[in-house]
Amino acid sequence: MIITIDGPMASGKSTVARLLAEQTKSFYINSGLLFRALAFLLLEKRVQPESILHDLPALTQFVKECLFYSYNPKTGPVVSYKNLIITPFLKTSAVSSAASILATESTVRQVFLTYQRTLAENHDVVADGRDCGTVVFPAASFKFFITAHVTVRAQRFQQDKERHNVALSLEESIALVHERDTRDSMRIYAPLKPSSDSCILDNSSLTIQETLDCILSLIDFQK
Ligand code: DC
Repeated sequence: MIITIDGPMASGKSTVARLLAEQTKSFYINSGLLFRALAFLLLEKRVQPESILHDLPALTQFVKECLFYSYNPKTGPVVSYKNLIITPFLKTSAVSSAASILATESTVRQVFLTYQRTLAENHDVVADGRDCGTVVFPAASFKFFITAHVTVRAQRFQQDKERHNVALSLEESIALVHERDTRDSMRIYAPLKPSSDSCILDNSSLTIQETLDCILSLIDFQK
């Protein structure tokens, strides 16, 4: 069984998806981490030559040989470059912004589409991202699109940054959310949008637990 959870930044989709994976004993695919990992390697100049980003066979080979995604319910998702765990480096602003730009590249999307489908072989899966329900797993059993008002998401983002000792005004946060939303939803390939058969959930006034409960009851209802 495959469950997809798509949505814009700071909608809480990754937290909910991971909890849902735990609850349903599924393999969790956080697809954003793949784009982040490649963006990080690019910033670190480990993707050489950079032109392989437009060369499907070369990029496929690079990802196959160098990038490993694994998931353990206790530790969560882990991404490695060769033998080095890089997950702790993937949440910086520089990586976030580079990942959003990289995600507009059709070759990159194609490589991660195949990668995610391979990860999902022989597993029950909860996958979160932007195009999991529309492009990567169009035949998923259950599809959700989680969103929230832009100001609410900007506040969540601001609070998250605060926890990591990064000060950001609400105005700056709103501008950033707008910029990422625009890039993710206006791109040509696999833009952020709900698939026609997904349940759309606005969790502006819901906690993570309430969002999860809502998803669980919608799954029960559709079974
Ligand atoms: O979910 P996230 O914020 O970790 O994702 C980082 C970037 O990767 C985001 O700006 C858009 C891109 N992304 C994507 O285009 N498609 C996905 N399925 C997941 C992420």
